[in-house]
Amino acid sequence: MSYSISIQTQEKKSSVDTQSAPFGVMPTDHMFITEYKECQWNNPRIVPFASINMSPLTLCLHYGQTVFEGMKAFYMKDGHINIFRPEKHYERFNKSLHRMCMPEVPEDLFMDALHQFVQLETDWIPNDEEGSLYLRPFMIASEERLGVKVSDEYIFFIVGTPVHQYYSKPLKIKVETTYTRAVDGGTGFAKCGGNYGASFYPSQLAKEKGFDQVVWTDSKHHEFIEESGTMNLMFFIDGTLVTPPLSGTILDGVTRDSLLTIAKDLNFDIQVRPISINELKEALKAGKKVEAFGAGTAAVVAPVEMISIFDKEYTCYTGADAQMFALKQALYRIRKGVDEDKHHWNDVL
Ligand code: COI
Repeated sequence: MSYSISIQTQEKKSSVDTQSAPFGVMPTDHMFITEYKECQWNNPRIVPFASINMSPLTLCLHYGQTVFEGMKAFYMKDGHINIFRPEKHYERFNKSLHRMCMPEVPEDLFMDALHQFVQLETDWIPNDEEGSLYLRPFMIASEERLGVKVSDEYIFFIVGTPVHQYYSKPLKIKVETTYTRAVDGGTGFAKCGGNYGASFYPSQLAKEKGFDQVVWTDSKHHEFIEESGTMNLMFFIDGTLVTPPLSGTILDGVTRDSLLTIAKDLNFDIQVRPISINELKEALKAGKKVEAFGAGTAAVVAPVEMISIFDKEYTCYTGADAQMFALKQALYRIRKGVDEDKHHWNDVL
């Protein structure tokens, strides 16, 4: 089936300050929207950004059937625009949708909508080192009824906001050993709204104690490191890049995957394996050089300066020569078209 996307344009907002707005509060002029009814996606269109009307009975408001993605578009050094790894995001979107009993968006509809949306909003892409247009494709269950059931109707949107660094300074994080983000057989690998909502309470408790994020541990024994609130976690321990393997409880981060691939290209020592809290604690206690950082689309590479393990605080290395910054720079250079894109990650418009 071929889809034609209608476009209703909006007069562009004059002079916008994309530098100082907090992450995700400044929508671009337009949004993409299409509704799923009777097993079909209907009336795909790009329209002026606006609030949507919803019945209070709408299913997603009650039972959390929602899934989202986060990806970015950049200005490259030659002035072209690059959407980074949309295929990988599309693949993960589908895995999340499947887990939440939601219908796939056909790939050509997803990609056409994304390309046309970004093409229309190029004025909103910050053209500086840290800036990008953050793209948020998402789907909600839109059938109107209170019965607990899988929705028969959905809405798929793409919206965008110009962004810079998600975290403006190195993070203080706390290993969480009471609360759990995800369990085996649960939805941990899916980018569904409920995973984030459920993480707020423990994160809030950590924030009240001065931490930026929690480090989630496995649900059975709280022994092994999983991920952090908005990102995967990676470490350099005495020069070796170590990160937990993917499992049903960890998000398959696109940035995680990109950084692992770049690290391999750079011939770094890499170990994708379970890391226990004790191993990390012993390494820090023994004075080994430990770099810790979050990896995510929004966060990119977010250095951790302090990690609290069983209420004891340990300092991680964040010096300018830290290896995580070499990975971050290499990722930037590929996305900006400075270095060769040998893995074909850049979707250049
Ligand atoms: C992302 O990195 O794209 C995320 O979805 C994390 C957060 C902004 C929710």
